Amino acid sequence: MSKIFEPFSIADLELPNRIVRSATVENRSTEKGEPTVAMGEMYGALASGGAGLIITGGCYVQRHGRSLRYLTGVHSDKMIGPLSRLVDKVHEAGGLIAIQLYHAGRQTRPEVIGEDPVAPSPVKDTMTWVTPRAISQREIEETIESFGEAAERAAKAGFDAIELLAGHGYLINQFLSRRTNQRSDEWGGSLENRARFLLKTISSIRSGGGGKLPLLVKINSEDHLPRGFTLEESCRVCEWLEEARVDAIEVTGGTFESALDIARGQIPKKKILKQLHGAQKVMARIVLPLMRRRFAFKEAYFLENALAIKRHVPNTPMILAGGNRNPKHMDEILSGGDIDLLSLSRPFIREPNLVKRWQSGDRRPATCISCNQCFVAIATDKPVRCFIENPCSEANDRSNMNTSPI
Ligand SMILES: Cc1cc2nc3c(=O)[nH]c(=O)nc-3n(C[C@H](O)[C@H](O)[C@H](O)COP(=O)(O)O)c2cc1C
Ligand code: SF4
Repeated sequence: MSKIFEPFSIADLELPNRIVRSATVENRSTEKGEPTVAMGEMYGALASGGAGLIITGGCYVQRHGRSLRYLTGVHSDKMIGPLSRLVDKVHEAGGLIAIQLYHAGRQTRPEVIGEDPVAPSPVKDTMTWVTPRAISQREIEETIESFGEAAERAAKAGFDAIELLAGHGYLINQFLSRRTNQRSDEWGGSLENRARFLLKTISSIRSGGGGKLPLLVKINSEDHLPRGFTLEESCRVCEWLEEARVDAIEVTGGTFESALDIARGQIPKKKILKQLHGAQKVMARIVLPLMRRRFAFKEAYFLENALAIKRHVPNTPMILAGGNRNPKHMDEILSGGDIDLLSLSRPFIREPNLVKRWQSGDRRPATCISCNQCFVAIATDKPVRCFIENPCSEANDRSNMNTSPI
């Protein structure tokens, strides 16, 4: 049997195969953060499609921690009911579902959250053009508590696991990185101090009702930015994650400022430029061709970094994100023995039934061509979908779907 179809356990959660749907923004919730009927349909289809574990798109733990208007919230007890109905859709179709918890920090815009974004330090984001305000000591403690409360709600809603997003330039990553964390208090400076927010957040999740669920952490192997979080630092932080007994580590990389490192592939330059203004546009014209060269697509593009990290965390299951496309190559990676699970995002946008297709004997690679039209479109609040056969228009796709709360 192909390795990709072998079962695997994360703590006491038994996955039927080694293929994970990595967290993917849906843009299918209401402005209040409730998942919609359309979102339930999307997750039902993913579960029927055979993924071993489905991880939701990032769900915000505080109202001002959302990065886009139509993301899902887990910031209030009112969300427990709608989230439990989303979980039911997946369970009814025979799937397993983890919730991804996150806080955007500075990677959002004031018009989305109605106030100035916070970050460890007031360092301007060259992608969003936002200069955040420095988060206070009291707010740091409240935010850590919010993660714990959100995890407890996730447990009440019936999720099978929790994933904490510590990468992709969001708040936890902002604490880890010297580029965005220039604090001189106990939350900044040394790597120990910069990792304090992540480790305290894990303790907060573990000490409440969410502590009974398996806990996964998605972390950057590196930011690929000047003064950003490095591979060496990531190896050390992952050692601390192993000491904290997290149940799996998902390896990724990149932030909004190096966004085409996160989802490598083609760069829809015209579509990106359309979303930008003035000086941002000028800068993007210079930066995009450089990114294209630096972050060219190859299969399993974080594999080398993940193997480097694995040497530091021999006892923690490893999930590899980024560019997994060909079941033959995926099988070879798993046969190496260091990587336990492979996560895919864009291929499932295009083919929610991908695993079933491979299981039926059609082992052609995923048909996603990594053109990144879906990745760029989420910033315009469009519900995520594949744009190949049905190109992106100015029309608001939300009018075509049932956006009543689930
Ligand atoms: C449309 C889109 C939305 C995404 N949303 C999230 C997210 O909410 N949380 C997250 O950790 N990663 C997110 N990602 C990153 C993916 O999980 C994944 O790490 C990346 O796309 C590389 O995997 P792939 O080559 O299989 O697409 C998103 C990617 C895309 C394309
Ligand atoms: S638009 Fe379709 S083909 Fe292009 S990256 Fe997204 S899912 Fe893949």
